Amino acid sequence: MKKPQIQLLLYLLATILTADHTSAADFIFNGFESSDVSLYGNATIESRILTLTTDATFSIGRVLLPYKIRTKQPNSSVVLPFSTSFIFAMAPYAGRLPGHGIVFLFTPHVGIEGSSSAQHLGLFNFSNNGNSSNRVLGVEFDVFKNEEFRDINANHVGIDVNSLISVDSYEAGYWPDDGNSFKKLTLNNGRNYQVWIDYVNGAVNVTMAPVGKKRPNQPLLSVPLNLSEVFEDEMYVGFTAATGALIESHKILAWSFSNTNFSTSESLITRGLPSFELPKTPIHKTRGFVAGLVVGVLFVAAVCSVIALLLVKRNRRLRKIKEELEDWELENRNRNQELLKQNVIGIGGNGKVYKGIFPGGSEVGVKRISHESSEGIRAFVSEISSLGRLKHRNLVGLKGWCKKEKGSLILVYEYMENGSLDKRLFECDESKILSWEERTRILKQVASGVLYLHYGWESKVLHRDIKASNVLLDKEMNARLGDFGLARMHDHDKVAGTTRVVGTVGYLAPEFVRSGRASMQTDVFGFGVLILEVVCGRRPIQGGEPPLVEWVWDLLRREELITAVDSRLRARGNLDEEEVERVLHLGLLCAHPDPSARPSMRQVAKFFEGKSGQVDESEGEDMGMHLLDKMKTKEIWSMYPQIFNSGSSSSHPTFEEIRKGLSDSMSVSWSSAVVEGR
Ligand SMILES: *[C@@H]1O[C@H](CO)[C@@H](O)[C@H](O)[C@H]1NC(C)=O
Ligand SMILES: *[C@@H]1O[C@H](CO)[C@@H](O)[C@H](O)[C@H]1NC(C)=O
Ligand SMILES: *[C@@H]1O[C@H](CO)[C@@H](O)[C@H](O)[C@H]1NC(C)=O
Ligand SMILES: *[C@@H]1O[C@H](CO)[C@@H](O)[C@H](O)[C@H]1NC(C)=O
Ligand SMILES: *[C@@H]1O[C@H](CO)[C@@H](O)[C@H](O)[C@H]1NC(C)=O
Ligand SMILES: *[C@@H]1O[C@H](CO)[C@@H](O)[C@H](O)[C@H]1NC(C)=O
Ligand SMILES: *[C@@H]1O[C@H](CO)[C@@H](O)[C@H](O)[C@H]1NC(C)=O
Repeated sequence: MKKPQIQLLLYLLATILTADHTSAADFIFNGFESSDVSLYGNATIESRILTLTTDATFSIGRVLLPYKIRTKQPNSSVVLPFSTSFIFAMAPYAGRLPGHGIVFLFTPHVGIEGSSSAQHLGLFNFSNNGNSSNRVLGVEFDVFKNEEFRDINANHVGIDVNSLISVDSYEAGYWPDDGNSFKKLTLNNGRNYQVWIDYVNGAVNVTMAPVGKKRPNQPLLSVPLNLSEVFEDEMYVGFTAATGALIESHKILAWSFSNTNFSTSESLITRGLPSFELPKTPIHKTRGFVAGLVVGVLFVAAVCSVIALLLVKRNRRLRKIKEELEDWELENRNRNQELLKQNVIGIGGNGKVYKGIFPGGSEVGVKRISHESSEGIRAFVSEISSLGRLKHRNLVGLKGWCKKEKGSLILVYEYMENGSLDKRLFECDESKILSWEERTRILKQVASGVLYLHYGWESKVLHRDIKASNVLLDKEMNARLGDFGLARMHDHDKVAGTTRVVGTVGYLAPEFVRSGRASMQTDVFGFGVLILEVVCGRRPIQGGEPPLVEWVWDLLRREELITAVDSRLRARGNLDEEEVERVLHLGLLCAHPDPSARPSMRQVAKFFEGKSGQVDESEGEDMGMHLLDKMKTKEIWSMYPQIFNSGSSSSHPTFEEIRKGLSDSMSVSWSSAVVEGR
């Protein structure tokens, strides 16, 4: 027996001897009966397996032991140690993107009240997240990266104390005992994993491994925590899980718990368990397939040689800058690390952006991409190849790049003195608040940058992550759209396909969340959210409040649209309310749930070229700008007869009616992007 385990047993023995008998809680479930546990929300037991969520969107399920267990010594603040182990699986559905995760939890209450679906994981909701009166300890297995909760990636394990912002988290996986490097485990691939969670001597240890494997010695997470303020004297213990617009099945196959005997986990049966992995798509050995393969290979070869040619050409141009940069690095070899760390000027999709200074004194933005942290090289090459060749006054220019140590890459951008737009919108003192004119100019410039991406090059470029933190402001307060880390190039006619959701919650179009398929219309949606954000001075997702789009939509319905504008702007007076409303209408139209109702970037850019939307009649008609006017009136609702059977409804429908109408009749889930953003 290993040393820590002996200590543990002694410790346990001591607690057992000093505690009264009722504090003991031990159970082992190899499979579940309905009498074993209490089920809440959508949780069920199927073939002795706990299934927390259904195949519906926004499903929440929770399973708790039917009685409270004692977690503290009587009349004392000393928290009893415990040890628990369980086997879980997140089973994907064919053709659906999987989400959102499972949480093991201690909670003072039964039921699912106070919890939301999607990235709230059925654990907390908008308003109570982070409130210390929750008295909840959770260990989350989360497959969606939510920036709001500072998630590290879309496949992590985290320890949550009263909040979805984890106390600590780590990529899912384990360190093998043979000293080999960390083995990543993909949570949502349907495999069965065993987890061990121990609380002893004021520290929580979380360990995981593929089922059937011996428990690794080194825990994945080991975090000192004093739970005496978190736990009540007695707590419920169990699991909770949720789906969002992304769906997967969340299953618990076995569970043991003890606060007296830390060997109970060894009694979990790990063999002969069902697997929930999706069958691999069979390879068709038909002639058509072979022919396709040959054509495919030839195509790839052709594309590669074209890219190689372009890169050779490009390298010649970049060499000079590269040399310059290497000099710079030589001179700063020792200070380099420090210099880079001290001057974070922004955080892009793939890494932090730092301020750098060339020996000659010119300032640059430096972005460092480390290979392990992101999709690494591939995203980088894509970024270089698209950014390097795209030149436009409203895009952040790439000056050069170089490869640092193994796997670490550095991009050098033009330096943007005034930082990112979100900082200016939200984190500024009174005197620096952006004026209305500045705001509309910024929107106009971003629109012109996106327009160039969509139509200005021989091949359509999707940005995929339009948001305020990706808009940078130069010395003259001109807006430049940056961070093409997510951009991919597409031939005009080719359908863009991807199976991974990239982008930022709050800016994702509903159809994108459903299909994972980006398009020009999904970029337009993101731009629509940006318009609303800039005009209203509110973040797309703000804890405890309805999502921005929903909120503005509702104000339109109540004919109070003008109150949406940033109150600090209103306080200054002199606002042209009609103009403000026109811009808000445009924002709502761009962020319309129905992709076909959204204008094109051409139309949007045209809008800003006119006197902030004073489009002349004939041109307006031509561009579909009549939609804008309709936004103003109740006519817009009659454009969607499928939503409003009555046709000429006398009042604006509620947001809920629109949402429901759209998802019922058009299978476009308006709520998904919005609720996903919660
Ligand atoms: C899931 O739970 C919700 C609310 O608890 C309920 O409205 C819904 O009908 C349930 N779905 C299923 C499939 O049981
Ligand atoms: C704990 O405190 C309660 C009252 O506060 C008292 O009735 C009880 O006897 C105490 N129990 C022990 C074990 O001291
Ligand atoms: C969150 O849950 C609490 C109960 O814990 C409830 O009072 C509150 O209304 C909920 N908020 C939202 C936004 O659902
Ligand atoms: C935390 O929750 C309690 C009880 O629900 C509530 O009274 C309190 O206002 C909340 N605190 C914050 C900061 O939201
Ligand atoms: C928890 O992890 C730490 C660090 O690896 C280790 O020292 C400690 O013994 C572990 N505790 C238990 C109960 O396994
Ligand atoms: C934990 O916190 C409680 C109350 O805040 C305190 O009495 C106790 O000494 C703390 N325990 C440790 C091990 O720090
Ligand atoms: C602890 O649990 C193990 C495995 O279930 C069992 O073999 C052992 O007898 C238990 N020890 C005590 C003291 O209950």
